[in-house]
Amino acid sequence: MCGIVGYIGQEDTKEILLNGLEKLEYRGYDSAGIATLNGGVNISKVKGRIATLREAVDENIHSTLGIGHTRWATHGAPSKENAHPHQSTSGRFTIVHNGVIENYMDVKNEYLADVELKSETDTEIIVQLIEVLNNELQDVNAAFRKAVNLLTGSYAIALIDAEDENTIYVAKNKSPLLVGLGEDFNAVASDSMAALHITDQFLELMDKETVLLRREEVIIQDPNGKNVTREPFTAELDTTDIEKGTYPHFMLKEIDEQPFVIRKIIQQYKNEDDQIKLDPEIREAMKQCDRIYIIAAGTSYHAGLLGKQFIEKLANIPVEVHVASEFSYNMPLLSEKPLFIYISQSGETADSRSVLVQTKELGHPALTITNVPGSTLSREADYTLHLHAGPEIAVASTKAYTAQMAVLAILAVDTARAKGLELDFDPMQELAIVANAMEALTDQKEALEELAKDYLPTTRNCFFIGRGIDFYVGLEGSLKLKEISYIQAEGFAGGELKHGTIALIEEGTPVIALATQKNVNYSIRGNVQEVEARGANSMIISMKGLNKDGDAFVIPHVHDLLTPLVSVIPLQLISYYAALHRDCDVDKPRNLAKSVTVE
Ligand code: F6R
Repeated sequence: MCGIVGYIGQEDTKEILLNGLEKLEYRGYDSAGIATLNGGVNISKVKGRIATLREAVDENIHSTLGIGHTRWATHGAPSKENAHPHQSTSGRFTIVHNGVIENYMDVKNEYLADVELKSETDTEIIVQLIEVLNNELQDVNAAFRKAVNLLTGSYAIALIDAEDENTIYVAKNKSPLLVGLGEDFNAVASDSMAALHITDQFLELMDKETVLLRREEVIIQDPNGKNVTREPFTAELDTTDIEKGTYPHFMLKEIDEQPFVIRKIIQQYKNEDDQIKLDPEIREAMKQCDRIYIIAAGTSYHAGLLGKQFIEKLANIPVEVHVASEFSYNMPLLSEKPLFIYISQSGETADSRSVLVQTKELGHPALTITNVPGSTLSREADYTLHLHAGPEIAVASTKAYTAQMAVLAILAVDTARAKGLELDFDPMQELAIVANAMEALTDQKEALEELAKDYLPTTRNCFFIGRGIDFYVGLEGSLKLKEISYIQAEGFAGGELKHGTIALIEEGTPVIALATQKNVNYSIRGNVQEVEARGANSMIISMKGLNKDGDAFVIPHVHDLLTPLVSVIPLQLISYYAALHRDCDVDKPRNLAKSVTVE
């Protein structure tokens, strides 16, 4: 969701910015633009893709300082006018901004009554405010700092001054932003991927800090203007991690990576004695709490529903799972010793972060399970568990979901052992079996493509049913299908359809049923018969040992509790092929953003 990249150095900046913006495409956007400075400011912006922006950029303009942006519309429609960069009235200041300024109307009324605004964006308010304050203070850095101190809400900002070819002004609050360091250049980017083509050295920024980014130095200042020193870190990413290689889409690559991710998790969470390796403080926090509250959104919420099963069944601790955006204003009664677990692939989801801020204020401990260790949710929680899934670029989450479940299973077993509970479950051994089963499934793409073609070629809607943990996997299957193929898909508990939704079943309506659990195998098959009797075109995905003649697809046998990690793979692949055959943009579905940094 919105991305920023900025560069100040010796090289021509156009290609560096465009390349960086391409690396940010995965976050989701609907317009893009760059501004470069050389004698004067030159702005190119477009509605649509970076490829269109490339065509719009004037090749003859050369500059060694510039800022770029991908925009996901919040205030104002996706349009060229609303695309960033935005300029102040005189044209002296040019800005790119991510986030949402909550008090923009107040700022407008108090400081900009005489300014004629050109766009509908909250961003233009910031750049106009900086110009007004600079007219008053005659000091750009002071005006910049004063302006950002007046703002409430979330922002990551990069600003250039047409009268200063040696500075990019940078500020951050709640929205992610990193400084990239080089020999004779410096950069700024929403995430390290956008600058990895020029550096692997980065500086984290804290909320409310501002930065003077120059060719030869980076000055970080706190809100009072006091200089702050900070050590850089090395991004543990390889540029090949963020390339598609021979794959047509990132989503397909990431589906295929799942067995390797599970093996990596086993390796990372095991010590030399083959015991679970986990921060003892996390173990203690899990042991001490009387109830766990899992907070997450979307696919991560679906992983949380399964995490509840693991923790309750193995570690015997009650767990509630909440959608982050609901929890923040509708907090339930909490237990005496709660532990909050935030599950987030990106670690930047604003809905989850807003709950984290509230629960920290209440003094409750927080553990973040994330794929991005330096992310906001990771930094602000007391503890972090890393997913080790490698960058997930496709908007539709696949490998992070299975990684989340694997880490939750390990956490549950570790807690059970710490509590002295007897378990007949070796998570590492069972996860190794899961990894092999995943591999067997990713080798059957042709069969799954055929199923997608048979069941979903022109359908308007599709239902997923399951009982117990299969129901939760069905929820994830329906989310995958709808987000990338735009087929209206819903997941239901097998017994629930007949309480209303069965009215929608018509001749040929696709119903995908999961049957991987012995205790409900009979009843879920009964639900399939009910929908078939009303004309549904049903497909059963079962597990070896529980399968029956006529099942559309059979997954290999794995431990009952871990079936979701395997049964989701055919659902991911069916969604992928359904979207592909409908000519949808698989990796960048319409209206969606990878990193949802606004509430
Ligand atoms: C769906 C998907 C989203 C995310 C959700 C939370 O494929 O990716 O539903 O799961 O936006 O994002 P994170 O996990 O980054 O907090």
